[in-house]
Amino acid sequence: MSRLAPAVSKNFPARKALALNFPLLPVVNSKKQLLGVVIREDLERVLRQQTSQREVQPDAAGKAENQSDAAAPTNKAADFLAAEPDKPSEDADEQARERTLLLRRAGLITYSQKMMGLIDLILRVSRVDSTVLISGESGVGKELLAKLIHDQSSRSLGPFVKINCGAIPENLLESELFGYEGGAFTGASRQGKLGMFELAHGGTLFLDEIGELPLGLQVKLLRAIQEQEFVRVGGVKAKKVDVRFIAATNRELEKMVESGKFREDLYFRLNVIPLLVPPLRERKEDILPLIHHFQAKFTQKFKVSKTFAPEALRLFLNYPWPGNVRELENIVERLFVVSPGEIIYCRHVPEKLLPGVQRQCVKVTGVMPLKEAVDELQRLLIEEALAMYGNTYKAAEALGVEQSTITRKLAKLKEKRKSGH
Ligand SMILES: Nc1ncnc2c1ncn2[C@@H]1O[C@H](COP(=O)(O)OP(=O)(O)O)[C@@H](O)[C@H]1O
Ligand SMILES: [Mg+2]
Repeated sequence: MSRLAPAVSKNFPARKALALNFPLLPVVNSKKQLLGVVIREDLERVLRQQTSQREVQPDAAGKAENQSDAAAPTNKAADFLAAEPDKPSEDADEQARERTLLLRRAGLITYSQKMMGLIDLILRVSRVDSTVLISGESGVGKELLAKLIHDQSSRSLGPFVKINCGAIPENLLESELFGYEGGAFTGASRQGKLGMFELAHGGTLFLDEIGELPLGLQVKLLRAIQEQEFVRVGGVKAKKVDVRFIAATNRELEKMVESGKFREDLYFRLNVIPLLVPPLRERKEDILPLIHHFQAKFTQKFKVSKTFAPEALRLFLNYPWPGNVRELENIVERLFVVSPGEIIYCRHVPEKLLPGVQRQCVKVTGVMPLKEAVDELQRLLIEEALAMYGNTYKAAEALGVEQSTITRKLAKLKEKRKSGH
């Protein structure tokens, strides 16, 4: 099915959505605002549980309800499809089909509209040789997208060569890019060495972290891109190559141009097709699908299966992810390795994911009897957890104690308040 998963809402309930066989389903409120994404298997499990609970006390009405429920999804889904008001045009259908295939093949997970627009643009730019500049914060998937452009292009059988301009010392960068002639400098090998330009011949050269390229080399790179030719270090003759360029940066190149740190002419030469990858916090609908994806990846890698408690998932959804998908992937991997049981709870996730109140250290503003201070701190924490989670079970989980402890302490507090202490 090429169409995107319909959103589960009041008008399109979960049972109906399940019949449509999408792995993930967005959930929206009555104002069509996205509330989150549910994983099909989770939803199935919940509905199964609800059904089996109802089956425990089968009265006549219950039975009738269960039967109609069981028969309902396929019929209702069929109704829904038949009544779909704005059937997409064949072109759009074809594009969506292409996009789905592309994403699956690339192992690229996204359900975000912004990213879909980007993927469609990538489909188009892959067919031409124009230079592409991919911008976005670190860890958003710039390299993954650069590889995707190459794989979709007519150069896919040629090499995809990456050079990280920020990771190579300035004095070595030129010879890494352009290679050197035999004996060009002390320590150079006698036969000389191929540079990335030559290695990428017939394929794509991915210039990562282009904002880190020293000014001196920027002129040489500009010439090489423009003329498709370059001179090896220590050489005199220009060499011709056939290379497609993709550059990436997490810096604001335009600002660097203004402050004289990046050459304007090179910027314009690179920025023929700009692609801006949104940070993960601007596409929260991707968080759960990505967790699911990495869960599968690490289950296979570590031969253990782990699931996340809903409360832990909520922490993931509320965290701003400054390190984007890379940070998310690393945290899931770490949790697979270090969390003891099969279920990952809030207490296992890194402290930085906890909301501010829980993360703040206790501030001491004066001296008071220790017992009183401890009681006060307990009261504050319990009240905060209750406000956050709404019930004593979840509050207890977040505080790492038994639910009975919370109710006991609450009763004590009430008593204290009554007696005016
Ligand atoms: N949409 C995505 N789906 C699956 N994995 C992703 C996605 N975006 C990024 N990743 C993964 O996150 C990590 C960082 O991505 P990368 O392309 O290196 O980011 P960047 O180049 O922007 O720093 C990589 O392991 C990559 O495979
Ligand atoms: Mg990168």
